[in-house]
Amino acid sequence: MQAYLNGQYLPKTDAKLSVDDRGFVFGDGVYEVFRAVDGELFEGERHQKRLEDGLKALRITAPREAEAAVLNEIATRLLKENGHDSGHATVYIQITRGAAPRAHVFPPAGTPPTVYVTTNPFKDSAAVREKGAAAITQPDIRWLRCDIKTVQLLPNCLAKQAAAEAGAFEAVLIRENGVVTEGTHSNLFAVLEGEIRTHPANNYILPGITRAVVLELIAELGMTVREEAITEEELGACDELFLTGTTTDVMPIVSLDGRVVGTGQPGPIATKLYEGLVARMGMVGAR
Ligand code: PDD
Repeated sequence: MQAYLNGQYLPKTDAKLSVDDRGFVFGDGVYEVFRAVDGELFEGERHQKRLEDGLKALRITAPREAEAAVLNEIATRLLKENGHDSGHATVYIQITRGAAPRAHVFPPAGTPPTVYVTTNPFKDSAAVREKGAAAITQPDIRWLRCDIKTVQLLPNCLAKQAAAEAGAFEAVLIRENGVVTEGTHSNLFAVLEGEIRTHPANNYILPGITRAVVLELIAELGMTVREEAITEEELGACDELFLTGTTTDVMPIVSLDGRVVGTGQPGPIATKLYEGLVARMGMVGAR
């Protein structure tokens, strides 16, 4: 598998980092996961903008690899060299504040950020989607800037591990005040009393690109959505619950903490939105 690290294309097994890298020491960096369809990035501009926003928020000097044209070139080459340029794949990019002796304060200006890019095959959870997924609830113990896509994902990993150990697909996170935020690597939508609801894109969730596309699809389908979070109490009354994400697409949840959601089958709205998303991605591949 080929990877890109700091200006070089090399076998992933040869890609080596300094132990002083601030990504390793402090989790001081951001990442993006793009979906590629037949070698082209799906909603590439949106992902790239979120990456830029993250770098700005953390005050990491944007390296040239964060520019759309350069990033596209690297992604295209890696997708090709790794045999991921037909069908569906993902592109992972991580940018950290670079390597410097351990000190909380930022390293001197001019310290080059670390840039790592690789590609991976896309694993569709088609069998789970067909029947609908199980999820569990977990306390949302994350920091107050969940809108920045940082590599600090320990609370997400712990919650996802709890889900895996419970035989569930995803964990749905709930803040101390009972507000339901999102999944560990996905956004959450609910259908409650005929209304589609999702958490507003503020500091408590990641502004998902799939979420943004699904909001557009909802409008295209002549439906409406209210960007207001559901609460823990409302979870039990939902007709539908579904997740959205680059590696998740649209995934209906049919059981939560062992209790049936809605009819216990994937709901009509999640199904329609999944079809709409697939159609949009098909347009990328057909270009
Ligand atoms: N995760 N919320 C969180 C916390 C996420 O980590 C992600 C994506 C999403 C969905 O965002 P998008 O639609 O832009 O993929 C929501 C990526 C895929 C990951 O960590 O692997």
